Parts: sequence; structure tokens; C-alpha cells
Amino acid sequence: MIERKNVLITEEEILKRAKELGAQITEDFKGEDVLLVGILKGSIMWMSDLMRRIDLDIEIDFMALSSYGSSTKSSGVVKILKDLDSDIEGKNVIIVEDTVESGITLDYLRRYFENRGAKSMKVCVLVDKPEGRKIPLEADYVGFTAGSEFIIGYGLDYAQKYRNLPYVAYIESEKE
Ligand code: PRP
Repeated sequence: MIERKNVLITEEEILKRAKELGAQITEDFKGEDVLLVGILKGSIMWMSDLMRRIDLDIEIDFMALSSYGSSTKSSGVVKILKDLDSDIEGKNVIIVEDTVESGITLDYLRRYFENRGAKSMKVCVLVDKPEGRKIPLEADYVGFTAGSEFIIGYGLDYAQKYRNLPYVAYIESEKE
């Protein structure tokens, strides 16, 4: 089996977008308390690029969520594997995601942050995949938009591999 990696978004494009969105977040949240919450594991690279381009006194935290495999995920079952360390009462939360597809994870997080008294919740996603939506939720800050192709790299995995690629690509597999 040969796997071809087709580059969709280069590192230069990602860094340029991080700068633009970082500036926009800086403007939108002037004078406010902001907590950036990275959703592990896919968000790590995008989180580190974005946070360096936000010129505010932010705090950061991370959550890990399990989806019990794709079939259960589509039924909407999400479980917390690693909860926040921070108190979120009265804070403006910005969720940092590598991708939003069905919207099931975001829908879960929206309810989670509402129930715990966050002042607001916004979402900053590296690659939005709106064709896969099952729940009509939209991210507030969108890096790039892709179709339904399987994407890897820059935090995104295929069977836990390829997260370290310094670009976003889609894989085509073909028999030798
Ligand atoms: C991915 C991604 C989002 C979620 C989005 O996580 O990081 O959290 O899926 O999909 P949805 O909109 O359909 O809910 P994944 O479970 O692959 O974990 P990972 O970040 O550790 O790769």
C-alpha cells in the first residue's frame, strides 16, 4: 500500500492565519479575562501558534475527551478523560480545536461551560469541516475550511500517527 500525502495547508499559511486570528481575538477581548482551553491531543500545535499571537493576559488549560470510537461518537456520547484544572466561573473561554466536524464535541463543551458558569464560550478551530455537521454549531474563529476528505498533520492523526507533520494534508491510499 502506498500512502500519498497531499499538502492542503502549508505551515506558512497556518502561521499567517494564527497571526490574523490572534490579532482579532486580542481586539475582541480587550480588558477581559480569557481562558484558552486546548482540546487534546489534536489542538497542541494550533494552540501554541495561536496563544503566542494573542496580546492579552490569558490563562491556558487543557481537556481530553473520549469518543468511544466513531460509531459511539456519532450517537453523541462524549466522556471527559482529563478535566480542567482552572475555575471557569465568570471567565471568557475560548476553545481551541484542530477540527470541528459533526459538532458533537462542541455541543458537549457548550453545555459543559454553560453549566459551570463561564461568562462566554467561543471556538477557534484550525480546520473546519462543515460538510460533516450533525449539530448546527459554528466556530467563531475559523482558520481554514476543508471538505470531507480525511486530513492529517499539524496535530491531526490517522491511527495516532502523522500529528507531527508541519502541514495539513490528506492521504490517498492505493494498492501497489
Ligand atoms: C477530534 C477533534 C475534535 C473532534 C471533532 O478529536 O480534535 O475534538 O474530533 O469532531 P466532531 O465535531 O465530529 O465531534 P479526536 O476524538 O479525533 O481526538 P484527538 O484530538 O486526540 O485526535
